[in-house]
Amino acid sequence: MAESMKGLHRSHRCAELGTVNIGENITVMGWVQKSRNKGGIIFVDLRDRSGILQLIFEEADCGAENFAKAEKLRSEFVVAAAGKVEARSGAVNKNLATGEIEIRVTEVRILSEAQTPPFPIESDSRTKEEMRLKYRFLDLRRPDIQSKLMLRSQVATKVRSVLAEEGFLEIETPILIKSTPEGARDYLVPSRVHQGKFYALPQSPQLFKQLLMCSGYDRYFQIAKCFRDEDLRADRQPEFTQIDMEMSFADVDDVIEVNEKLLKKVFKDAIGLDIELPIPRMTWQEAMDRYGSDKPDTRFGMELRDVSEVVKGCGFGVFTGALENGGSVRGINAKGQGQMPRKKIDALVEFAKGFGAKGLAYAAVQPDGSCKSSFAKFMTEEQMKALMEALDGQPGDLLLFAADKNKVVWDVLGNLRLEIARNLELFNKDQFHFLWITEFPLLEWSEEQSRFVAMHHPFTMPMEEDLDKIDTDPGAVRAKAYDIVLNGTELGGGSVRIFQADIQEKMFAVLGFTKEQAQERFGFLLDAFQYGVPPHAGLAYGFDRLMMLMTGADSIREVIAFPKVKDASDMMTNAPDVVDKIQLEELGILVAGEATE
Ligand code: AMO
Ligand code: AMP
Repeated sequence: MAESMKGLHRSHRCAELGTVNIGENITVMGWVQKSRNKGGIIFVDLRDRSGILQLIFEEADCGAENFAKAEKLRSEFVVAAAGKVEARSGAVNKNLATGEIEIRVTEVRILSEAQTPPFPIESDSRTKEEMRLKYRFLDLRRPDIQSKLMLRSQVATKVRSVLAEEGFLEIETPILIKSTPEGARDYLVPSRVHQGKFYALPQSPQLFKQLLMCSGYDRYFQIAKCFRDEDLRADRQPEFTQIDMEMSFADVDDVIEVNEKLLKKVFKDAIGLDIELPIPRMTWQEAMDRYGSDKPDTRFGMELRDVSEVVKGCGFGVFTGALENGGSVRGINAKGQGQMPRKKIDALVEFAKGFGAKGLAYAAVQPDGSCKSSFAKFMTEEQMKALMEALDGQPGDLLLFAADKNKVVWDVLGNLRLEIARNLELFNKDQFHFLWITEFPLLEWSEEQSRFVAMHHPFTMPMEEDLDKIDTDPGAVRAKAYDIVLNGTELGGGSVRIFQADIQEKMFAVLGFTKEQAQERFGFLLDAFQYGVPPHAGLAYGFDRLMMLMTGADSIREVIAFPKVKDASDMMTNAPDVVDKIQLEELGILVAGEATE
């Protein structure tokens, strides 16, 4: 039977109380974490989002009726308790913020009873994630998730205040928009009024924020929901949140400057971290050459070295073949791993194959400085020595080489480097290495589509120095695009935008849009450019990723209240789901085939 809380008013959250409150009469409300009946005395741990507080019941204080109620309390019952704050009668609990006090209860009300939950409500749950997500409303009671979501709220508040100080206006942009694919697949929403037509959900507010610049709003930001129908990973969700911004009369340095201020203040406020400014910058080319990745984890070394020159003309067909095909041979040095057992090396070879490697060549440097390797027989002694030197190989080191097209070599060694570092625990979660990556290529060749696609998006400005190459050698054009990388994760990205209609048209042409197609898709933006457009630039962070990194979570699911799972479904509500026939009829939609499970 649920009681009313009429006449009682919560005076404090559980963990807001401390020794300073001793002697005060207070009222708390929350969930029973656990209750221990020691005969004439009952201890109850009461939990709310602030933490845990010990209640103590004795019949002499609360009377028979209240004591009888206390005897009934089970985990997850919701109760209100009024009483007096006292110093702990028993041993002080050092693990608890409220460990030096307890509440001597004079009145208790059971506001709601609870079934036994399917898993215990505690931090560091070992319950399967599937189960936790099915009962997310219970999972969200766990203190470790609550603290992550509370920090998320604090960060959002801080972002808003810092950006407001910097003159940014918070403006909402629509969710039902025209489909203007930005890279990922769109989520579509059928129109009832215009049967056969569809809205798309925004992949980002990109076009609208550029239009706001055209309209003179100068500095915009939004904490915006974005939707992308792409394959999920630990750091990707179909709907996610961006901290999105755009600035007028701004170039690369202006965006970077504001964002360094923002990052510094937010990290200091949220986790007390002092970010040293300026954050280092690295060009995309350097990042690829040194780390094989455009989001390098710089918490450890093991950098790539190009050994193409060294192996030129050697007798190893794998190496020379790659060079003849316009590729390269590069290597990394796993320091001190020369004794790695064959089985583990084989596992690395398999790992490399997962990233497109045809194989992996390796060499273990022996105590006498010679090399035990899978390919020494094809090399002269001098060549082996030169290889070792190129990688600073010392006795005891393991050298790993990949030969292929650059793209494959980078991907293979970049990922291998991470894998080895993970296996050897070469970094820890308390280190925060920020890095700007700049001068991205403007375009990327898509094998599938046999055409260039925009590396960032079609509105990104080429670097002035490279403008003349856009017709003759589009693949070599660099862009005024930048990413902010934290510990090997792309935290955010942005660019200076094209604001000249002629360059934008050229860009559409390289991307293979006809004038008509460009007008059809992006006409409103091109039109806006005809009426006075300021130079502008912007950036967006993945808010979920930011929180994942800040809290040391393994997945963005841990920092999103109601996340989706791998197949983009929601285990709790069962979305997506079939809908009533009548809903489909209204929309003029006929489903081809059965709905799939
Ligand atoms: P971009 O596509 O790089 O840029 O996205 C910006 C940031 O959003 C995050 N992000 C994601 N987070 C979770 N799940 C996803 N599926 C997902 N996809 C992206 C990443 C990424 O760095 N409009 C441009 C920004 C601009 O140019 O101003 C944009 O959306 O952290
Ligand atoms: P194979 O000629 O395919 O038998 O390979 C000979 C050795 O070279 C084996 O150790 C392979 O793992 C390695 N290897 C094969 N392809 C590559 C490659 N693309 N890059 C580096 N090593 C390779």
